Amino acid sequence: MKVKIKDLKSNPFKKFISGGRLNSETIARLKESISHGTLPITFSARKVGKENQLCFGHHRIEAFKQVHGKDFEVEVNFVDYNDEKMLVDMVRENINQRDVDYQDKKESVVLAHNWLGSKVKTVKRFDSLKKTGFHPKGIKGGSEPLEDSHRSVAKFLSKEGKSVSYETVRNYLNIHFNLDKNIEKKVGKIVNGKNKEEKKPIWHGVTLAKFKDKKEQRDLDKVIEESQEQRRNQMSTLITSYKQLPKKEKEDIREQKIDIVYAPIINKVIKEVPDKIKQVKIIERIKKNSLNQEQVTDLIKKSQNNKDFVLLKDQLSSDLFKEDWWLPEQKRPQGYGRNDYHGNCSPLLIKQGLLRYAKNKKEIIVDSMAGSGTFIDVAKEMGYKKIFAFDIYPIREDIKKKSAQDTGLKNNSVDFIFNHYPYWEMVDYSKYSNKKSSDDLSSLNYDKFLNECKKIIQHNFNILKKDCYYMVLIGDIRRQGRKFLASEIHKIAEEVGFNLWDRAVMKLQGQTIKADPNAYYRALKNNYMVQTYDDILVFKKRGKK
Ligand SMILES: C[S@@+](CC[C@H](N)C(=O)[O-])C[C@H]1O[C@@H](n2cnc3c(N)ncnc32)[C@H](O)[C@@H]1O
Repeated sequence: MKVKIKDLKSNPFKKFISGGRLNSETIARLKESISHGTLPITFSARKVGKENQLCFGHHRIEAFKQVHGKDFEVEVNFVDYNDEKMLVDMVRENINQRDVDYQDKKESVVLAHNWLGSKVKTVKRFDSLKKTGFHPKGIKGGSEPLEDSHRSVAKFLSKEGKSVSYETVRNYLNIHFNLDKNIEKKVGKIVNGKNKEEKKPIWHGVTLAKFKDKKEQRDLDKVIEESQEQRRNQMSTLITSYKQLPKKEKEDIREQKIDIVYAPIINKVIKEVPDKIKQVKIIERIKKNSLNQEQVTDLIKKSQNNKDFVLLKDQLSSDLFKEDWWLPEQKRPQGYGRNDYHGNCSPLLIKQGLLRYAKNKKEIIVDSMAGSGTFIDVAKEMGYKKIFAFDIYPIREDIKKKSAQDTGLKNNSVDFIFNHYPYWEMVDYSKYSNKKSSDDLSSLNYDKFLNECKKIIQHNFNILKKDCYYMVLIGDIRRQGRKFLASEIHKIAEEVGFNLWDRAVMKLQGQTIKADPNAYYRALKNNYMVQTYDDILVFKKRGKK
């Protein structure tokens, strides 16, 4: 049916998009199409009372009006649409038309989102909600809509076989709700290949809107703005790389200390250079601009030749490799054995022993000279379930009164044994009991002491499973010269059938001139060296002799 332009009114939802304003550039372009005779002259509209309401095509009708006057007749197909259909039709048309201004597209999606959030069915009610300032969820919401609402808007607009993609909806809503308003103002659309200088492409808005922090959006906006033209095209890739960077590098980029163009290569270094120290060094050089891409690739390759060593280096800071067992924080920390127990030992040494020689937490582990129970506390904390602890003078309930010479454990049943021996008679351990034990290693003459040590080592050999380990901590004592107790234990262990698997020394706690000046005075007077280390021996019960 032919209808005069002056008899056609706007879609009632048009005023919610860019305040109903029309874009003069769009109109100018459409007018050009009219002059070439390529602009379609057919419109859709509905009747409400006497009013004819256009479904969409407001710019087009305005172009015809400006060219031919308001009495010009266009072809109109009348449809029977309710309010919601009027909205969906217009929004869908706006989104799908290439020529439509970015702001109009975005506001169309926001309109659909708000309509859904308002849960009303008529444009009148929707209008009054907006006017009265009553804002149900979603109408004005300044906060980011949920993923769910992106999907429901896309679904809402995709009825009748015509689809609007979820990504489109998500991008526009994200820009609207998340993007810094000053940046958003500058987001536009490349129209006919010519983007207005001050306008930023939509992807720019989409990319920045993904950052929650508005300050970060502004910083990155500046980074992009100041970047060279050819780089701007790679910007969304660069921003993706930027996101994966560590905090420090991100800050450097935001403060423009590093060019964002280096983001991918820094990520590559972090991912592919296994040695942390080397990583940092290469990144420092990248920051100083002293490496080109080829040189970086070269450095990455070189660093990989040494992977095994580097893997090891990565572990250096772990408990497994700590060499100073008496770091201040480990020095008798609360909760491991007893601080005041004469001859207690380093929890970290026990931890290392267990980490290396009893890897499975279900293994049966034994300390048959448990003292104040350091072994039990460390092992429990590490999650071991089968811990056996003995001492001839037990001072806690979880230590059983047994001598190490015979713990009562079955042959070939134990996975790991730790013994921190008395340094012969250095400390009289019977002070922890009111009854002296005849098995007490600290109260025997030297030969008997060694004899009893042999019984203990033989017993341990018997109860240990094959291919399992026995760890000993012992130190020297001075009695008519120096008694090298570790050497004695070693000899006995080899006699019994053990093999020495490992040997280390452990610096003694507090063995400094300042802490014990007397020890240094005696050493000077009697012409010997101060004992500053204890010995650690690890024996293995070999499977096949
Ligand atoms: C150096 S202390 C162990 C300290 C323990 N590692 C700690 O951190 O508390 C030696 C322990 O061996 C115990 N002992 C001495 N002769 C023993 C024996 N024949 N059987 C079992 N324990 C014995 C002592 O009572 C003493 O508790």
